[in-house]
Amino acid sequence: MDKAELTLRRLRQNPAIRELVREHRVSPDQLIQPHFVVEGLAAREPVPGLTGVYRENQETLLRQIEADLKVGASKILLFGVPAEKKLKNFDPSFTANQIAAIRKRFGADVFISVDVCLCSSTAHGQCGILNEEGDHLENGATVAELVRAAVAYAQAGADCVAPSDMMDGRIGAIRTALDKQGLERTLLMSYSAKFHSRFYGPFRVAADSAPKGSIALKDRATYQIDPGTPRDAFESSLRDAEEGADILMVKPGLPYLDILSKLSAEIPKPWAVYEVSGEFAAIELLAREGLMQGPAAHVEAWTSFVRAGASMIITYGARFAREWIEQCQK
Ligand code: PBG
Repeated sequence: MDKAELTLRRLRQNPAIRELVREHRVSPDQLIQPHFVVEGLAAREPVPGLTGVYRENQETLLRQIEADLKVGASKILLFGVPAEKKLKNFDPSFTANQIAAIRKRFGADVFISVDVCLCSSTAHGQCGILNEEGDHLENGATVAELVRAAVAYAQAGADCVAPSDMMDGRIGAIRTALDKQGLERTLLMSYSAKFHSRFYGPFRVAADSAPKGSIALKDRATYQIDPGTPRDAFESSLRDAEEGADILMVKPGLPYLDILSKLSAEIPKPWAVYEVSGEFAAIELLAREGLMQGPAAHVEAWTSFVRAGASMIITYGARFAREWIEQCQK
């Protein structure tokens, strides 16, 4: 072989040297597993598109967490889905009770973060309180409800509350309320760069949270960030950091890697990325059709998040990570 031919490829020639020169690798420690717990379910139900993910009841949730702990998936993001759908005066107690049950059963073995939003509680599926005409969400009234929920979840034992609603000013309001209640150790993770995305499809089935009914507001475009406006993600993340968010987030992941890469370089905070339901399901569907190696594709996606600056990844595959990474990171 002529000399000029083997230059960069010398460092790619076998697993040992590839491991030694690798700059970015993903570890199961960095992953957070979402869980859906639904009030009044007799038996758990698989979520279409999300392999290995279920709408759980309290009993099956605890059993699933126990199984996950055995494979090293000890960090969770909880989504509570209460039975009663309302327009205001929401009751956070169903989700708070699940948090308390997890804490009671597992103590400090599980890191509990919990999504704070109203979309699973509202009759119309929007993330907050509608005005009379039904054409927009009332910011202040919504924030007041979010604050009540966040405090209830923190009091029930959550390590971290994570508002995903995209109202203005909710981070500052939640931080102030937590501190006032003596909950200054509770972490606050902001979905600070959450885009108005089509990739949330399977989630909305799981969380029963798709916008519905005959109201004027048909989607979430008036509060989530437009895919073509990265400046808004930057401003929103800076603002949330200033208001006291401990962790910032980009969501979805793969279609917004440029955002993650730039924001994490410019705003010195821990960055989370949410590999959302549609992204995860896309890989699963391709794999099921025999068109892709699922585990290797998942690890490739996670590695791209780490490369782009995420220190933590929320993914439906966290419980499979140890096995998949072992299998693929060679
Ligand atoms: C709630 C919320 C959503 C997701 C997390 N929290 C969906 C939405 O905004 O409709 C999406 C997560 C996923 O798709 O996996 N507001």
